[in-house]
Amino acid sequence: MSIEFVKSVIAADMQAVDQLIRERLHSEVALVRQVAEYIISSGGKRLRPVLVLLSAGALGYRGEHHRELAAVVEFIHTATLLHDDVVDESSLRRGRDTANAMFGNAASVLVGDFLYSRAFQMMVGVNDMRVMQVLADATNVIAEGEVLQLMNIGDAELDEADYLKVIRYKTAKLFEAAARLGALLSKSDAATEDAMARFGMHLGTAFQIVDDVLDYSGDAGEIGKNLGDDLAEGKCTLPLIHAMRLGTAEQAAVVREAIVHAQRDHFAAVLAAVQGSGALEAAMAAARGEARQALAALAGLPDNDSTRALHALAEFAVNRSN
Ligand code: IPE
Ligand code: IPE
Ligand code: MG
Ligand code: MG
Repeated sequence: MSIEFVKSVIAADMQAVDQLIRERLHSEVALVRQVAEYIISSGGKRLRPVLVLLSAGALGYRGEHHRELAAVVEFIHTATLLHDDVVDESSLRRGRDTANAMFGNAASVLVGDFLYSRAFQMMVGVNDMRVMQVLADATNVIAEGEVLQLMNIGDAELDEADYLKVIRYKTAKLFEAAARLGALLSKSDAATEDAMARFGMHLGTAFQIVDDVLDYSGDAGEIGKNLGDDLAEGKCTLPLIHAMRLGTAEQAAVVREAIVHAQRDHFAAVLAAVQGSGALEAAMAAARGEARQALAALAGLPDNDSTRALHALAEFAVNRSN
């Protein structure tokens, strides 16, 4: 099973979600439209909306709200990207100049705020207090995760548990919320809802570990982002944690220095240390462990195409090259 299978299962819904996304971007303010359309129309994998649609489908949901909520989670995600690229000083996203590079930091931050608040307007329309609670909590936790990460910048003593906490907050929480929404819409029992949420959480964790691996091993053309952004910022991610643990004393020192001084100049040496120490393999093993836990959470769910597509999504999270 592949990501093509995933897309085929929800093709009609996804088209409707894309249409909704375009409609809901509307603003009378030209710069809002310009920046929002710029980042939204440059693509992206739309994984979080896919997760809302599949979790609802797997649990037999028959209504209309899943499409609106799929658009909501994509707006929240996009808002985090606009802010994240400012904070990370990134210049490439989805194969194009970032919004901050094109329109400046101020416009990116403010249009990010527009997208967050538009997402909240949309979820109010769904008129379900539990839905609002899940999305409000997730949005809040993502912000905490980004701030926690900021506090950890330049810290080479970070351990795997500290790292996991950051990525559970900044990334996995929205995957968890997306999956939980499908269960909420389907009025599933508490155990099923928790299983779905656990699936999303482990999937998101695997997904971010792989994102951090791709920052040292991917192809910029394929991932649509520059490699080395994490190091340039002094971000101590799992590949670096493992390189310091598994590498020679020399390799560990190179990595430690680069984190503390946060300079892209050291990228080549760090890349050699990360690639030569077995750190990428160790990080990928952790990602596969998370994907396995995600799959385990699906065990009691109904057997249908959407559930099978959730399996495929977990495989994609670890096998992807973009
Ligand atoms: C990027 O997410 C931010 C992370 C959590 C790593 P995606 O890789 O899902 O971004 P798009 O939407 O496909 O561009
Ligand atoms: C994901 O972290 C950030 C968010 C959850 C917004 P990264 O900083 O690794 O994401 P990319 O690599 O810029 O997409
Ligand atoms: Mg970033
Ligand atoms: Mg990244």
